Amino acid sequence: MNNNKNIKSNDKILSVAPMLDWTDRHCRYFLRLLCPSCVLYTEMVTTSALLLGRDPERFLEFSEAEHPLILQLGGDDPVAMRAAAAMAHTYGYDGINLNVGCPSSRVQKGRFGACLMTTPELVAELVAAMGESGLPVSVKHRLGLDREEDYATLRAFIEIVAMAGCRHFIVHARNAWLKGLSPAENRDVPPLRWDWVHQLKKELPHLTIEINGGFNELTAVTAQFSAVDGVMIGRAAYHHPLLLAEIERAMGRRETLPVPEVILSGLIEYAEQWGEALPAPRLSRHLHGLRFGQNGAGAWRRFLSTAESGESAAEFLRRGMPLLD
Ligand SMILES: Cc1cc2nc3c(=O)[nH]c(=O)nc-3n(C[C@H](O)[C@H](O)[C@H](O)COP(=O)(O)O)c2cc1C
Repeated sequence: MNNNKNIKSNDKILSVAPMLDWTDRHCRYFLRLLCPSCVLYTEMVTTSALLLGRDPERFLEFSEAEHPLILQLGGDDPVAMRAAAAMAHTYGYDGINLNVGCPSSRVQKGRFGACLMTTPELVAELVAAMGESGLPVSVKHRLGLDREEDYATLRAFIEIVAMAGCRHFIVHARNAWLKGLSPAENRDVPPLRWDWVHQLKKELPHLTIEINGGFNELTAVTAQFSAVDGVMIGRAAYHHPLLLAEIERAMGRRETLPVPEVILSGLIEYAEQWGEALPAPRLSRHLHGLRFGQNGAGAWRRFLSTAESGESAAEFLRRGMPLLD
């Protein structure tokens, strides 16, 4: 039985952050096996990739098992955003999310991502256009930009965007510094201010406020459920995916933790459906965390590093099964 009954968390959201190059569909399938109840997000997809690219299906297709699944969109043009959101609806996503947090120079050149924090009216237009799809819309954003730390500006941003129909905000609880930091440094260097996110929930209780940034262990996550509506986990979910199952258990959503052999069997079944179309490295690269902190973790990682594209993921993982005994 769950021994954390004091955590009132049944209606709380646990989600895995959108992570470019990491949370592709194969990674998401793996995470879903470990954590049936969490909300999954795609990597950010730009509206131009969907509307002008040669192969939009590559970004949009997913397995039914991935539900609930949210498509994260990047862009700054309401017309394009409306069309991209309609595609998300056609493909059967459970919701769409607008990226207002990415600080990369490529994204800055396109004038979307984190720099949209300075134009809440434009974000409101984008959100309204997305809402025409009929899908629930959320926005993932930062606290602010560069060295400017102003809670009132943050709150005003949310209020303006909420007026356009967005009810769900995922707050990466630090600023984005647009100059002088790489995207990776922008996930570590600007100071975290979880208290600002708690304050937002207190002052705007009618909105769904989900917190993100720096969560990498169980008690820190469960402690958030008394202050906000949900927790989004990024890097820790990738490097230590069993943490998601531990959180689910603490939330009372499961009684036992998943057994690695059973997860691997599920993955082999999945990979068999793909056959040769899924070369070993495309799946194995996401599995390094399966034995995080356990005996045999090193041998497992060494095995994964031998994956070669000439072999199918199914064949490769079958060979790896004895390492999980
Ligand atoms: C490899 C990588 C790629 C990321 N790509 C995206 C992205 O596509 N969209 C987005 O909103 N955030 C992206 N992020 C940021 C995460 O979603 C998250 O906000 C950030 O890592 C902070 O959460 P954490 O401390 O739990 O990792 C990315 C992070 C990483 C590590």
